[in-house]
Amino acid sequence: MRVLVTGGAGFIGSHTVVSLSEAGHEAVIVDNLTNAKRSVLGRIARIAAEEPEFIEADVRDLDAMEKVLQSGFDACIHFAALKAVGESVEKPLLYYDNNVGGTFALLEALTQAGVKTFVFSSSATVYGDPDPASLPLIESTPIGAATNPYGWTKIMMEQILRDAHVSDAEWSISILRYFNPVGAHPSGLIGEDPSGVPNNLMPYVAKVAAGELARVRVFGDDYPTPDGTGVRDFVHVVDIAEGHVRALERHAGEPGVFTYNLGTGQGHSVLEVIAAYEQQSERPIPYEIVDRRAGDVAANWADVSKAARELGWEAGRRLEDMCADSWRWQQNAR
Ligand code: UFG
Repeated sequence: MRVLVTGGAGFIGSHTVVSLSEAGHEAVIVDNLTNAKRSVLGRIARIAAEEPEFIEADVRDLDAMEKVLQSGFDACIHFAALKAVGESVEKPLLYYDNNVGGTFALLEALTQAGVKTFVFSSSATVYGDPDPASLPLIESTPIGAATNPYGWTKIMMEQILRDAHVSDAEWSISILRYFNPVGAHPSGLIGEDPSGVPNNLMPYVAKVAAGELARVRVFGDDYPTPDGTGVRDFVHVVDIAEGHVRALERHAGEPGVFTYNLGTGQGHSVLEVIAAYEQQSERPIPYEIVDRRAGDVAANWADVSKAARELGWEAGRRLEDMCADSWRWQQNAR
């Protein structure tokens, strides 16, 4: 398949471009480079043996997208979005414009071009603050109330996609709800490259291991979890990337809306992540317990049986692999 990958120069996008190429598909990247670098293209080429076609454009630019789509596509995987939770609280309109507005424009351009196979980058954030009794989260769990504008954009975009399918049954839409994607490609050539001080746990821990930051601040140790720290379903980004290829191959051209959790099905606490990273990096990782971070949930992890059953997909890489690959990227890639 020839696949348009929006946000294909970003963290999950770049890994998915590699997985698409390995599976024999042709990926064409559209990215506005607000949170990605052009240099990722050469790095993808070193892993996948060919450099993907790249167009610098914003998905909100309907004219540009119509032009891109003239060359003919079988499907679109849509990653392009802003994703910093804290920033979304400060700049909600920016988030609604980029994420929701971008999806609107893209769907419009795809409709005009007759491309109706769509794979969407969603998030476990749509489950909101889950009742502990409802863990693990299954896809049929009612969508919650988001705790921030970023989360609301994901909820709204999912709804827009479901409505689009109601109005035009030819749409084939796969909604993939990621839990906590971490790690990097095992080559150490591509990974997550947050600008400034990272917000998310593993990129922060990586910088502490490297000596660039002094210590990890553990946000709360009084949650109702085994060691009191937050529990998340961390999942290797290469597994996530492969999940997109599986969903695409399974559902391309098949009318419907297909929703899957992508996680390992297993939760790990913040302290477990720090310990695993310490072991893989062989570096001390100092930490201190501080207050809870506003908006954080105590625990969430996925029921992943639907993706296993319908896509034949399972996240096989373990926490040790996630830490080892993250550390290789942290050391090699700068
Ligand atoms: N944490 C720390 N210290 C840090 C950073 C994080 O203790 O410096 C803790 C958090 O409190 C949480 C856990 O580590 O318990 C994971 O935090 P992350 O920021 O790595 O991830 P979140 O679960 O908060 O966020 C992720 C995605 C969001 C998404 C959210 C809900 O990054 O995009 O899941 O699905 F919205």
